[in-house]
Amino acid sequence: MDVPLRGLEGVVIDRSAITLVEGETGGLVYRGFRIDELVPGAPYESVVHLLLWGEPPEEQPPPRLVRELAKRRSLPRRLETVVDALPPGLPPLEALRTMISAMGDGSFPYPPTDEQAFDLIAQTPTMLTRYVRRSAGLTAVAPRPDLGHVANYLYMLNGVLPDARQVRALEGYFVLLADHGMNASTFALRVVLSTHSDLFSGATAALAALKGPLHGGAPSKVSDMLDAVGSAENAERWVAQSLARKERLMGFGHRAYKAEDPRAVILKQIARDVAAPARLKLAEQVEEVALAALERQRPGRRLYTNVEFYGAVVLEAVGLPRNLFTPTFALARTAGWGAHGLEQAADNRLIRPDIEYVGPAPGRRWPERSPTVSPP
Ligand code: ACO
Repeated sequence: MDVPLRGLEGVVIDRSAITLVEGETGGLVYRGFRIDELVPGAPYESVVHLLLWGEPPEEQPPPRLVRELAKRRSLPRRLETVVDALPPGLPPLEALRTMISAMGDGSFPYPPTDEQAFDLIAQTPTMLTRYVRRSAGLTAVAPRPDLGHVANYLYMLNGVLPDARQVRALEGYFVLLADHGMNASTFALRVVLSTHSDLFSGATAALAALKGPLHGGAPSKVSDMLDAVGSAENAERWVAQSLARKERLMGFGHRAYKAEDPRAVILKQIARDVAAPARLKLAEQVEEVALAALERQRPGRRLYTNVEFYGAVVLEAVGLPRNLFTPTFALARTAGWGAHGLEQAADNRLIRPDIEYVGPAPGRRWPERSPTVSPP
């Protein structure tokens, strides 16, 4: 029998005042502000303020929130111990999942608080960069309270003050990726919170869901794809062969958007500002060829470029290694996870859907038990 709601497509599970995804027209709105009103220009901390509390700050960036986040960047000793106890060389995303889980030490009860959301946003970059540097045999770089959230992330990662153009580009990426309605990771977080579990357990589940390539795990695969294509001249042939093998083109298609993903549109502009010209030319050629090929192969399916495609080009251009692409997406999304955790708890109802049973009819008989053999 056909199950119309598979993958919960189109199912409205509750109400939210945080983010509006306009799938048919390709719009994305945070608390009433279209994203092209925010990028370029709005500091990540201002968007954290907007997402958590619903209003833009009076001052940009908001001095109190900036201070709160900066104060919390330094890790408590117990978290340093966990980070340093992990074996070096794990994929950073796997390490981050364990580290976020370790943030919940039993002293953060339900319901979540603003302070817990601040910790989630402020401490994840410190844990991640500490782990990545240790894996590379480098000492940790202490956070700098005088730097903005995004600049400080790059600083803790590389140990040098980042270039202003790269900070601007990554700040735009962080703002665009900060929230996205009922995506799989945020849904996972809300399911966990709805059982009255804590915010860090919810964020651990969210990261686990983000990891998959059908959600946040795609951007490094976009870079791999661009490498495999190699040159603009090879794009047509490579895309045709890939689709003939029934592979999915990474960075295209979206469950919600049946029009251009508005984040991809802005990330393309950012990429034009920071990416190496040859890489940008290759990406633009692959995009053009892929869109035409997808329309030919699946006419009317409306498969467009998604956030991951130019997201990957931007992350490459700011010097991040591929194994940090999805972890960086997660750092940006901690703002949305915090906001959704608070919203879920403010008016909670247990999220517990149903599933249609299609197994054997009730009434089967259990096989005769074999005689019990007594132990000698
Ligand atoms: N390449 C080739 N074919 C595709 C692609 C793609 N990128 N995306 C969808 N299709 C095809 C599917 O094969 C399917 O065809 P069929 O009906 O003939 O079987 C049809 O288009 C519809 O696809 P679904 O999987 O039903 O669409 P869904 O809404 O479930 O999937 C998804 C959306 C997972 C993003 C999909 O488009 C995809 O796999 N894209 C590639 C991976 C990717 O870019 N992931 C990042 C997503 S963005 C984010 O989450 C932040």
